[in-house]
Amino acid sequence: MSMSTAPHSTPVGLPARVRIPVVAAPMFLVSGPELVIAASAAGIVGSFPTPNCRTTAELDRWMGTISDGVAAAGPDAAPWAVNLVTHRSNQRLEEDLRLVAEHRPPVVITALGSPEPVMETVKGYGGLVLADVVSVRLARKAAGFGVDGLACISAGAGGHTGHLSPFAFVSAVRQFFDGLLVIGGGIADGWGVAGAVAAGADLVYMGTRFLTATESMASPDYKQMVVEHGPDDLVVSSGITGTSASWLRPSLIANGLDPDALTAPAGRDYNAGADVQGRWKNIWAAGQGLGLIDGVTPVKSIVDDLAAEYAAATRRFAGRTLR
Ligand SMILES: Cc1cc2nc3c(=O)[nH]c(=O)nc-3n(C[C@H](O)[C@H](O)[C@H](O)COP(=O)(O)O)c2cc1C
Repeated sequence: MSMSTAPHSTPVGLPARVRIPVVAAPMFLVSGPELVIAASAAGIVGSFPTPNCRTTAELDRWMGTISDGVAAAGPDAAPWAVNLVTHRSNQRLEEDLRLVAEHRPPVVITALGSPEPVMETVKGYGGLVLADVVSVRLARKAAGFGVDGLACISAGAGGHTGHLSPFAFVSAVRQFFDGLLVIGGGIADGWGVAGAVAAGADLVYMGTRFLTATESMASPDYKQMVVEHGPDDLVVSSGITGTSASWLRPSLIANGLDPDALTAPAGRDYNAGADVQGRWKNIWAAGQGLGLIDGVTPVKSIVDDLAAEYAAATRRFAGRTLR
């Protein structure tokens, strides 16, 4: 089915339960309960990756806190999400999944592996599964497992990044998928959100914009580096974790690394190994949207800004097309 002949997912379900179509994307060592609850309370999907909890007991506490916090935020709060690394190097997947079954996060996002291991559990309690994918091939594969949505990570994304243009990615995936299409990569304002929706996406996956939120767990020095730098100050390399990721050049230099001569580590153990955790702690990731960030502000005010820009973009678009 081609984009021009078929209507796509209409804004029911998740897109109808958000103030603006944005997911505060999961960020390693950055997103915790405060950020997730603030995002959901502000009307966008809040999320965190389970490796941010060092133990399953901590994950149990976090999910309890988030569940209660989002419930307390009232009926306009958006659903929250948890992000599971389904790569085989994640030895905690089974235990994490047991806690997911207990706490029933409304949305589960799989990353760095197939969504297959979570499908039965999450669909069993009526949750939505989104699979994070970086290529059309992986999107097609994930769609084959019956996921509700795809988070298509495009060029410009912070952390583990993609390489496709978001426009090319959305168009290609819409050829075979009419579920929830989430697009991420370098989108950091409401104008970009409107552009993504116009292109065929349902939601935008936005990480970098929330790096400097007051509620983010990033250190003050990390936040300052994000504020002071722009897209030209990023280096995309697989030399830190074994997977292509977007890093702040000055943080590589500060750690004695030559940004132009990074060598790949031996194995690909993503967030799991202690040494990789250490690397993420000192070497800071960001996406191309960082140039728009000029300070440390609460999530609520970021979402208010995004909503105002989204509304202005919608008016601008309508004014140009409905003559
Ligand atoms: C500091 C940082 C850490 C991240 N950690 C994770 C992670 O643990 N798991 C994951 O699936 N994605 C992770 N991401 C990727 C985001 O979820 C999302 O794909 C990305 O931020 C979207 O692009 P943007 O940064 O340009 O908004 C991370 C991104 C950043 C900036």
